[in-house]
Amino acid sequence: MSKEIKTIGVLTSGGDAPGMNAAIRAVVRKAITNGVKVKGIKKGYQGLLNEEIIDMQASSVSDIIQRGGTILGTARCMEFKTEEGQKKGAEICRKHGIDGLVVIGGDGSYRGAQALSKQGINTIGLPGTIDLDIACTDYTIGFDTAINTAMQAIDKVRDTSSSHERCSIIEVMGRNAGYIALWCGVANGAEDILLPEKYDFNEQSIINNIINNRKKGKTHHIIINAEGIGHSTSMARRIEAATGIETRATILGYMQRGGSPTCKDRFYASIMGAYAADILCAGKTNRVVGHQHGDFVDFDIDEALAMQKEIPEYQYRVSKLLSASL
Ligand code: ADP
Ligand code: F6P
Repeated sequence: MSKEIKTIGVLTSGGDAPGMNAAIRAVVRKAITNGVKVKGIKKGYQGLLNEEIIDMQASSVSDIIQRGGTILGTARCMEFKTEEGQKKGAEICRKHGIDGLVVIGGDGSYRGAQALSKQGINTIGLPGTIDLDIACTDYTIGFDTAINTAMQAIDKVRDTSSSHERCSIIEVMGRNAGYIALWCGVANGAEDILLPEKYDFNEQSIINNIINNRKKGKTHHIIINAEGIGHSTSMARRIEAATGIETRATILGYMQRGGSPTCKDRFYASIMGAYAADILCAGKTNRVVGHQHGDFVDFDIDEALAMQKEIPEYQYRVSKLLSASL
């Protein structure tokens, strides 16, 4: 029989993402409505180990839904990857009367939640990452804001690139995942889109593409490069040397992780946060919340972590086709 849940905790972990605040707000308010107390844990698993734990009321999450970042703070914590760290974390939860925990973060954070549930603390994961690289869900909190931020920035670079008849390499985030690059590549009408999952390191084909486009009269050439491929600055130097066309690199960087969340991120994070609070209060553990085929769903963490995610082949082929010059 599942234990009665009287108090839950909530933390954000790993890279922050716009919409995390909306998720925290929903967890807190839904749990309180369910008659359960809520504690906020600051700075992810590091804050748990340091016992940075605060009581949260409905008013604690007022005026945050529109804010980027996370009011709880976030961190990466090496100690939590060890069994001693995980045991200590579970002990601290018990000491503070925390029966269950909502963990908002990416795959790594899910592994921490999985470990805590093995130590007897009920856990639910929420997908919080701008990278969209969590296999069990077609949506992750923060992705929509990040792609819109990047898209607007790329439009601006395109303006100046056209005026100066330059080639521009714009590097977007995604260490292992090319979803931001794919979406912006299509949405910004890029001439080349380089994804870590697909890149063949054939720089000569990019160079040929630039030269052909120039011959056809194109005044700009936008290359969206994912962080996982990187080396945008040296790539720009090599391309300029090979084509004779001025080439500049722009690395968008952390601006993609900040800013006020879009309506979609606020909405999905709110529904997912409430869903997490409900299943945690109902005694479920070792689950993650996702969105698939129009529905909010939950999966076993072990199964979720075993799932694989790939760039959808049709989307990739269309991105290549639309970037081809007429
Ligand atoms: P994300 O959650 O965005 O994928 P990380 O991979 O950096 O980010 O993970 C965030 C934190 O989750 C780590 O700093 C660590 O505290 C915890 N974590 C990551 N992997 C594990 C693991 N295998 N076991 C336990 N905790 C982990
Ligand atoms: O996971 C989100 C993300 O922004 C990745 O796209 C990027 O590779 C990474 O985090 C950067 O992490 P850090 O904040 O540790 O530099």
